Amino acid sequence: MLLNLTILPGDGIGPEVTEHAVLVLQSVADAFGHQTDFQLKKIGGAALAAVNDPLPPDTIEACLSSSAVLLGAVGSPAFDHNPNHLRPEAGLLRLRRELGAFANLRPAFCFPGMEDSSPLRPELVRGTDMMIVRELLGGLYFGEPRSISNAAESGTSQPVASSRVAVNTMRYAEPEIERIARVAFELAMKRRHRVLSVDKANVLECSRLWREVVTRIARDYPDVKLTHQYVDSAAMLLVQRPADFDVLLTENMFGDILSDQAGGIVGSLGLLASASIGGRVGLYEPVHGSAPDIAGKGIANPLGAILSVAMLLRHSFQLEREAVCVENAVSSVLNQGHRTADLAPKTQSATSTTEMGRLVAQAVKQLAATPTPTN
Ligand code: IPM
Ligand code: MN
Repeated sequence: MLLNLTILPGDGIGPEVTEHAVLVLQSVADAFGHQTDFQLKKIGGAALAAVNDPLPPDTIEACLSSSAVLLGAVGSPAFDHNPNHLRPEAGLLRLRRELGAFANLRPAFCFPGMEDSSPLRPELVRGTDMMIVRELLGGLYFGEPRSISNAAESGTSQPVASSRVAVNTMRYAEPEIERIARVAFELAMKRRHRVLSVDKANVLECSRLWREVVTRIARDYPDVKLTHQYVDSAAMLLVQRPADFDVLLTENMFGDILSDQAGGIVGSLGLLASASIGGRVGLYEPVHGSAPDIAGKGIANPLGAILSVAMLLRHSFQLEREAVCVENAVSSVLNQGHRTADLAPKTQSATSTTEMGRLVAQAVKQLAATPTPTN
């Protein structure tokens, strides 16, 4: 098979983790006899610095003509004071929209033996294996109108302190809720048959519609048990009993917040992968973001990016064996005790980004060479 990808390293630690994810991808491709074709393009702050556009046209074109996109991270403090459309994040949001990637899958998994990396007690986090299904193209992130007024617009020529007003709009249309709900139920059918839908239906109209539509779609999936939870209470349950969650279905903003929390719970955001699917081309990226404070130091955890490669193989190419091989390689390297700085206990010296990438690529080769037992 030809794995033709666009690679968007982006900002901060994005390029470091992406480099090693690509090496792992190359070693899986070699081991399983696939061809690769990678196009490297700019996004976010890197693109702003080069051409003053966080998502240049040639980046969009490359992505749309690939079978999948692998992204590192976007975000850089250098552009903190830019207007919204000239911020690195705007590039990522536009890319998600251009690709039509409405379904963001964020698994939070506690690898056996990693319980001690969690801030929670090991017996609480043990066995945690949830799939967060976050709606990615609606809600507050894209709703119109949106604005921040300046003092002149409020009728005075002199800026008046405290006079500005900012507006964002949470908006959901029924079909947007329907399609993401179906993704969650389909995933639940392949997992433990449970969906927890998270909303704020006691306060928000959007959430009341959300709850109604999700309840209606659930009738098509009689084998899946659906429950509803308000987002505040879901946040509490996540830390009280994370292992009870199977599929967590929620809207854009709640999903953004709860997925970082889930990352903290399983030990480090550095371990979390994501897939943004449902559109023409799938987009795969680690959840951790650009982490400018540790960029360039060679200490970033590449496992979130590497596990995103596994999701890419599974969801864009239906290469399940290859995906499992990457996941097992990560698991075995962690089992051998290797830990990047975000995971290492103070008494242990940390594995560098490069070394971690090399170990996983090597484990991929070994696992691919080992015949899998037939029963
Ligand atoms: C994420 C990030 C993005 C988001 C930012 C960078 C736009 O936090 O992927 O979770 O809020 O969706
Ligand atoms: Mn986020």
